[in-house]
Amino acid sequence: MYHVDLPRIGTFEAWRGKARALRAAGVKSHEVLWTRGEPAGDLFADSLPPEGDAPLTVPRGFLDLARMAIWHSDPERFARLYALLDVLQTDKRLIEDRADPRVARLNAMAKEVGRDKHKMTAFVRFREVDSDGPRRRFAAWFEPSHFIMEPSAPFFAKRFGDMDWSIFTPDLSAHFDGTVRFDDGAAKPPLPEDATEDLWRTYFRSIFNPARVKVSAMQSEMPKKYWKNLPEASLIPEMIATAQARASAMAEAAPTMAPARAARVTERLRSGQDRVEDALGACRRCALWSSATQAVPGEGPLDAPLMLVGEQPGDREDLTGRPFVGPAGQVLDRALEAVGLVREALYLTNAVKHFKFRPRGKARIHQSPDRGEVMACKWWLDLEVERVRPKLIVALGATALASLIGTGQGLMKRRGTVEQTPEGVPVLVTVHPSYLLRLPDAARPEAEALFRADLTLARERIGEMGGAAPRR
Ligand code: URA
Repeated sequence: MYHVDLPRIGTFEAWRGKARALRAAGVKSHEVLWTRGEPAGDLFADSLPPEGDAPLTVPRGFLDLARMAIWHSDPERFARLYALLDVLQTDKRLIEDRADPRVARLNAMAKEVGRDKHKMTAFVRFREVDSDGPRRRFAAWFEPSHFIMEPSAPFFAKRFGDMDWSIFTPDLSAHFDGTVRFDDGAAKPPLPEDATEDLWRTYFRSIFNPARVKVSAMQSEMPKKYWKNLPEASLIPEMIATAQARASAMAEAAPTMAPARAARVTERLRSGQDRVEDALGACRRCALWSSATQAVPGEGPLDAPLMLVGEQPGDREDLTGRPFVGPAGQVLDRALEAVGLVREALYLTNAVKHFKFRPRGKARIHQSPDRGEVMACKWWLDLEVERVRPKLIVALGATALASLIGTGQGLMKRRGTVEQTPEGVPVLVTVHPSYLLRLPDAARPEAEALFRADLTLARERIGEMGGAAPRR
């Protein structure tokens, strides 16, 4: 029997190292007892095999799953992951079998962790505390359901990088002063009440619409267990209790106010009176906003005859707030120039406006948006198409195509052809410039020539349709 006690900080990397060593030594899952932060007198435990570079191949999906599920509070989480790792050695495709109870359970755990992390990003409330350094200092107390302090810290470091902060949780505390440091969990600290509390109360009052109160939905979004640490939550019982009366009063005072106002908001955005950029910054239609630096709106003249739609912002775009300014943007710029299209005369945008990525060390690795995210963001793309009314849209790759037409399948067969959005706007299909970047050197010249041929077609179509073909 082996006993593996994992550290409370760096748990995933430690699990990975130990699992690899155990697997290389042929240790079966029932032979290992896993704990975290519980060194025991291991009188009867065998000594662990040394960690080496023994090769161990696992499907990529497994590592993604392990990176999330490992933070779950289920005491069996390490063992479950190791058991699955074991089976995957002989049946790699099992990871795709969502009906398999081992895979299903770990997927459900990963999902619960994701939800808990999301709640944490939404419900941590910082209060200002005394600072002995040049920067302001804030502290917050939070009680997550799972061990998510460590994997959530990068989000807070990025989002609140301009202040010093500490987040205390019962399991672990994180402190930031330019770099993140972890130490033991804490009991609820005596944080001072300050103006931020009032601000939150006022904010919550102002966004609370009594006519729309759905207690169950509200509780599933903001489960009761979080209430005690949220300043604004003290208002919830009273607001629910008086909601019906206030809703009737509202209805009497202005029977059509809510839809009328909603229509006005859409209209103001459509007509350009309100800046889409500002509204987009507050978008919460899917969860991608929570880890991105900012939303990246489209860019270009509102009367551009040609609109180019990519997939989503990448790392550079996320940091700068502008579309196509990173490596794929440079490929696109060169191709546009080669075919005589001027970037400044085009409207450039993306199907999804927030960067989706997976952290790996300090890097942020691009992840394709899923269908739900593409569909959630389509509202914005439709708005852009409606405002710009381009003569032709170029769909750069399968995600843009899926958003515009409904399906992105069979891209290579469809490229170079013109299809139509359900509203009748012509869409020329082509590849995404990052596809060219991924090709081996030998294949690139031909693929680039085809890409340019597609863009030339776009330029010619605009000319034929009487649009001012954006030529130099
Ligand atoms: N890839 C895209 O699809 N859009 C960008 O803005 C950058 C890279």
